[in-house]
Amino acid sequence: MQLVRWIFGIVYRVCVKPILFLFDAEAVHDATVAMGARIGTAAIVPALLRFRHPMLAQTIDGIAFENPVGLAAGFDYDGLLAGVLGNVGFGFHTVGTVTALPYEGNARPRLTRLPRSRSILVNKGFKSSGAHAVRARLDAMNLARETIGISVGSSNVPDIDTPEKAIADYQETFLLFKDRAYVKYFELNISCPNTRLAQPFANPDRFRELAQAVAGLGVRQPIWVKMPSEHGWDDTRKLMESALEYQIHTFIFSNLAHTREGAGLNPQEYARIASLGGGLSGKPAQRYSDDAIARAFRAYGDKVVLVGCGGIFSARDAYRKIRAGARLVQLITGMIYQGPQLIGQINEQLVALARRDGYASLAGAVGSAG
Ligand SMILES: Cc1cc2nc3c(=O)[nH]c(=O)nc-3n(C[C@H](O)[C@H](O)[C@H](O)COP(=O)(O)O)c2cc1C
Repeated sequence: MQLVRWIFGIVYRVCVKPILFLFDAEAVHDATVAMGARIGTAAIVPALLRFRHPMLAQTIDGIAFENPVGLAAGFDYDGLLAGVLGNVGFGFHTVGTVTALPYEGNARPRLTRLPRSRSILVNKGFKSSGAHAVRARLDAMNLARETIGISVGSSNVPDIDTPEKAIADYQETFLLFKDRAYVKYFELNISCPNTRLAQPFANPDRFRELAQAVAGLGVRQPIWVKMPSEHGWDDTRKLMESALEYQIHTFIFSNLAHTREGAGLNPQEYARIASLGGGLSGKPAQRYSDDAIARAFRAYGDKVVLVGCGGIFSARDAYRKIRAGARLVQLITGMIYQGPQLIGQINEQLVALARRDGYASLAGAVGSAG
């Protein structure tokens, strides 16, 4: 199957991607998701793509993860793929960001590919069909074998114009999903810059209010905080301290990067997006994520669970984050540029890398970079 995935990857990069990339990124995304939802349950999909191995399995906070590679928030924002992503080989996947109220998204273009920079400029601003619609969709699926989380954000609509209203809005979505057995974890998204309120909860004092409000809801699932990229260590530490105070101990490093200067962008692509807003995924997000994981692991060790997210294009990228202290990783951009077989390839090579370094399981490698 290793050979099959390798051939699949070549076919994707040489034949499929060049055609897909001729069309608008969001239109392709929507078409891919619709097609994936239709064909993803076919037995051929896991046979071709998925890689399983006992060395990859972990149980964290009572959740069994078959492997450490998850789909990050933003790809399956309305939950259309919730029943099929395990077949593709993901160990877990996040639906959302879901907001309580529906929102059609910021003005187009909401997605701009930057292939030479190995990045995507994202300016969706929490496009969502709303928590009620997403919940109804998920309720109708058989999700018993999936490991699913819900990313929660506040509705990006004119009425939600103060942090107080935003907190009530977050709470509404948590309350809608908290009793659903298929929800294994929540992500608290405090780091979307492309919204009307920008990022009020990236401020440590405001975040404390949000953490307290969410902790008061009696949510039984673990809550993971999606951390802002490029936050100084002082603010990062304050956010983490506030979360820990409310028994929230899982942190995803990190969301989209904002700094364009010095981000390694190709000069023509840099100029092309000069008038566009949005955050950068992929390679420009990689270093911030790697550095933040290492720093947070050095400071907190096993007291926290770290999830590495940003610029994973290969098993080596994932392993570097794991060695820095991440127990799980997430990605989107790597899959768009390399193809869906990447997930199985990463998992397969993670086993080889852990064996090479003498670990009986991948979990043994967590934090080994020191
Ligand atoms: C198309 C797209 C949409 C995204 N939407 C969201 C979102 O709704 N919520 C969120 O927390 N992060 C969102 N992100 C950020 C990703 O979850 C992730 O943090 C970031 O892309 C870095 O990972 P990557 O380099 O593997 O793509 C989005 C990213 C992309 C590429």
